[in-house]
Amino acid sequence: MLRSHTCGQLRLADVGTPVTLAGWVQRVRDKGSVVWIDLRDRYGITQIVLNEDVPEALRAQARTLGREFVLQVQGRVVERYSKNPQMPTGDVEVLPERLHVLNESKTPPFVIEDEADGGEDLRAKYRYLDIRRAPVREALLLRHRAAQSVRRYMDGQGFVEVETPVLIKSTPEGARDFVVPSRIHPGQFYALPQSPQTFKQLLMVAGMDRYFQIVKCFRDEDLRADRQPEFTQIDCEMSFVERDDVLDTFEGLICQLWQDTLGIELPRPFARMSYADAERLYGSDKPDLRFGMTFCELKGLAAGHGFGVFDQAEYVGGIVAPGCAGYTRKQVDELTEWVKRPQIGATGLVYVRYEADGSVKSSVDKFYTPEVLKTWLEAAQAQPGDLLLILAGPAAKTRKALGELRLEMGTRLGLRDKASFAVSWVLDFPLLEYNEEDGRWYAMHHPFTSPYPEDIALLDTDPGRVRANAYDLVINGYEVGGGSIRIHDKALQARMFDILGFSPEEAQAQFGFLMNAFEYGAPPHGGLAFGFDRLCMILGGSESIRDYIAFPKNNAGRDVMIDSPSEIEPKLKKELGL
Ligand code: AMO
Repeated sequence: MLRSHTCGQLRLADVGTPVTLAGWVQRVRDKGSVVWIDLRDRYGITQIVLNEDVPEALRAQARTLGREFVLQVQGRVVERYSKNPQMPTGDVEVLPERLHVLNESKTPPFVIEDEADGGEDLRAKYRYLDIRRAPVREALLLRHRAAQSVRRYMDGQGFVEVETPVLIKSTPEGARDFVVPSRIHPGQFYALPQSPQTFKQLLMVAGMDRYFQIVKCFRDEDLRADRQPEFTQIDCEMSFVERDDVLDTFEGLICQLWQDTLGIELPRPFARMSYADAERLYGSDKPDLRFGMTFCELKGLAAGHGFGVFDQAEYVGGIVAPGCAGYTRKQVDELTEWVKRPQIGATGLVYVRYEADGSVKSSVDKFYTPEVLKTWLEAAQAQPGDLLLILAGPAAKTRKALGELRLEMGTRLGLRDKASFAVSWVLDFPLLEYNEEDGRWYAMHHPFTSPYPEDIALLDTDPGRVRANAYDLVINGYEVGGGSIRIHDKALQARMFDILGFSPEEAQAQFGFLMNAFEYGAPPHGGLAFGFDRLCMILGGSESIRDYIAFPKNNAGRDVMIDSPSEIEPKLKKELGL
C-alpha cells in the first residue's frame, strides 16, 4: 500500500508513530516560517505541518504544491499546539520527512470544499471533482449503507436476489418507454424496463417464493426533483401472502433501514389511511403527515349568501394557518398571487381572520355576517389568532391546489422538519381511472393489480368504484413505494385487459407470456417496489434524489459530464436500420 493510515484515522494515541499518508492537497497555507498542508481523502483531512523542525527545502517544496495535487507524505504524528475540535483528526498533525508528488492536478474549475461555488452546471460537468466534496461523498456513503441494510434484511427474511433482463418488451407502468434498436432484427426494438414487474411475477410462477432486487428502472417522463429517467427500485415479490403480510414484512424493512442508517426507531405498526381520506383531508394521495392543517369542507355553510363564486363552486374548502391572523394585507396578497400561479391554478384566495380578541375579518365580509363567518371558523376548529384560507372551484382541481397551499404554509411555518419522519400506508386506491379525452379506463397502478374480491362484481356495473388491493408507502409527503396483491387468475386478468380496452389479440401480443404462464399454476402473490433514491433522499434530509445518485442527469435529462444523449455515427445508424 502507498499509505499506512488514512487521512481520517490519526488520533492523540498515535503521537510518535511513523506514518505514510496519501491524498489530495485541499490547500496550502504559508506563514513564512511555517507551512501547513491540508491533506484529504475519503476518510477525512489531516493537517501536515512544516515548521522549524523540518528542513527549509521541504517547506520550499510544499509551497510549489497546487490544489488537488496527489501527495504522499511520510512523517511522524505529533500533538497539535492549537487543537481543532471540529475535526476528528484535530488533536494531531503530521511532521513530514518526505513529500512525494504522486500526480499533479490542473487548477480545478471550482474550489473543492463543503460549501462549493461554481454553480450546479459546472459541478455536474466535473462530477468526479464534486464527489470529492464531503457532503456529496457522505450522501453516496449513506446510500451504500442503506443498500447493505436492505440486503441484510431481505436475505434474513429469505428473499432471493435475482437479476432480471434489461433488454425487454414494453412494461405497463404507464410512462413512456426508452427503446433500443435491434441490429440483428432491423426495424425491431427492445424496451428498457420501467420496472421488473412481469419478471417478478413470472419468478413467483417459477416457485422462487420470495424475490428481491436492487434494480435500475427506466422511464421516459418529465423530470422533477424526485424523478430521474433512470432510477433504482428495491423491487420485491412474495408468494402465498395477503395484503397485511406484505405490509408487515416491509414495515420491517423500513424500520431496519432507519435503524441502521440513522439509529432511529420508527413506531410500528405504520399509520394507514384510505386513498379517499387522503384526498379529502389533504388533497393528495401522498400527504405530508408531519403536520395537521387538514381540510375543512365549507360548501354547505358558504353557499346561499349571494357570493357567486362560492354558490357556483363544486367545492369550497379551507385550511387553518395557526397563529397567522396577524398576516398583513401584503402577505395575504402575496399568498393570493402564489395560489394563482399556473402550477397551482387557483382562481383566487379568500381569507377569514380570527383576531386574538375574538372578532372576525374577512375578504368576503360584504357577503357574510360575522356570525356566519364564525360558523366557518368553528367548523374548521380555528382558534383566536388563526387565519382561515379558503379556495373554491372544481373539486379535484381545488383540492389539489389547497393541498399545495397546505404544504406551502407548512413550510413557511416551519412544520416540515427534515429530521422527523411521518410514515403512512395509503390503501384502497381505485382500481381504474377514467380518461375523458379518449373515453377509456386506465389501470391506476398497473393492469396486474387485483381488485378486492368483494368488489369484483362492480367491474361490470360501476368500474370506477372498484377498489384495488394496492398500497403505497408515503413518508414526509413522498411516495416512496407502492405495490399490490396481483391477479393470479387468467380469466380475471383477461377481463382486466378487456376493460382496459385491449382486444384479446392485443393482450396476447403484449402480455401473452404472462397470461400463458398463469395457466401453469400461478400461486397467489403480491409485492411492492420502493424508490431507493427517494428513500436515500429522505434519510439524508435532502429535497433532490440527484444528491444520492453518483452520476445523475440534469433537469433536461442530460448527463453533461459525458455529454449524453448525443448523435451517433451515420454508419451505426445505417446498421441499425434507422
Ligand atoms: P411504481 O411505478 O409505483 O411501482 O414505482 C415504485 C416506486 O419507484 C419510485 N419511482 C421513481 N423514483 C425516481 N424516479 C422516477 N422516475 C420514479 N418512478 C417511480 C417511487 C415509486 O413509489 N412495478 C411496480 C411496483 C409493484 O407493483 O410491485 C412499480 O414500479 O418511489
